[in-house]
Amino acid sequence: MQSVKLNNGVEMPLVGLGTFKVRGYEVVHQTLDSALGHGYRSFDTAGVYQNEADIGRALKELLPKHGLSRHDIFITSKLAPRDHGPEAEAGCLRSLEALDCEYLDLYLIHWPGKQGWKSEDPRNPECRQQSWEAMESLYRHGKFRAIGVSNYTVGHLQELLTQCQVKPAVLQVEYHPRLVQSELLAFCSESGFHLQAYSSLGTGCLVTEPKVKGLADSLGKTPAQVLLRWALQQGIGVIPKSTNPERIAQNARLFDFRLAEEDMELLSGLHSDTRYCWDPRAVV
Ligand SMILES: NC(=O)c1ccc[n+]([C@@H]2O[C@H](COP(=O)([O-])OP(=O)(O)OC[C@H]3O[C@@H](n4cnc5c(N)ncnc54)[C@H](OP(=O)(O)O)[C@@H]3O)[C@@H](O)[C@H]2O)c1
Repeated sequence: MQSVKLNNGVEMPLVGLGTFKVRGYEVVHQTLDSALGHGYRSFDTAGVYQNEADIGRALKELLPKHGLSRHDIFITSKLAPRDHGPEAEAGCLRSLEALDCEYLDLYLIHWPGKQGWKSEDPRNPECRQQSWEAMESLYRHGKFRAIGVSNYTVGHLQELLTQCQVKPAVLQVEYHPRLVQSELLAFCSESGFHLQAYSSLGTGCLVTEPKVKGLADSLGKTPAQVLLRWALQQGIGVIPKSTNPERIAQNARLFDFRLAEEDMELLSGLHSDTRYCWDPRAVV
């Protein structure tokens, strides 16, 4: 699995497994077993996915089976929006405890606003800053190998850059051919943050898009492979979610082909500012 070197020198696999809605110990165990067997070494979870404890337990069981140890894998989790602000340190420690890990490889602020507060609530910026400071402290203590943010806009990132002592290493946002976030991508690349895409398959909706399907058929690839490859060729990491062993396998077979420039343009031309998840632009 190819990896990217983050701005603090930590190596992160470019392809990881998304685990949103992967729930229940049996399903988590089968999914991670299949993913490890197909070469995945990176797993994306979050406090709000309510699967951290099952993932931690399943990995403990599965790593020896696959001849691996904790250091061979990369675990990302995220601070739940309810824990923003004064509760941030406790939220971070809950993730570590649930995953039963001495350290996490990457920890992200999941959302720029606090749960239960309106987007325009003027307390949101202070809350974000408190959360970041708590994460910086845990980073310094070796509990997180890298820290970053998710669902931040350029404005949120600019604000963070004026306050932080540790620069974010990763920005995780929704990014796919119907949501080509060029301004964010350019800002990340200028600032040295790695952009990681979520919902690369449009939560599944994009695999039936006629142009995506047509291109995939012409290349002898699947629509999902073409969508994921499109992101990788822009230097963007991906974390497709699947619980289906065949799809888990195909979503990792992305390094044996290249999209031509005109194919990249065809996919980028599908941009319609469509979001399948949440829209953070209103959060002050
Ligand atoms: N930071 C955030 O706010 C945020 C938000 C959303 C997601 N995420 C992260 O990003 C991950 C991925 O995003 P996502 O789960 O929203 O959506 P996604 O990866 O775009 O799509 C997942 C959907 O596509 C289906 N699928 C997967 N591989 C396929 C294939 N090869 N062919 C056809 N269908 C396929 C899956 O069904 P099967 O399982 O049945 O295969 C599932 O329904 C999440 O799991 C989560 O870890 C983060």
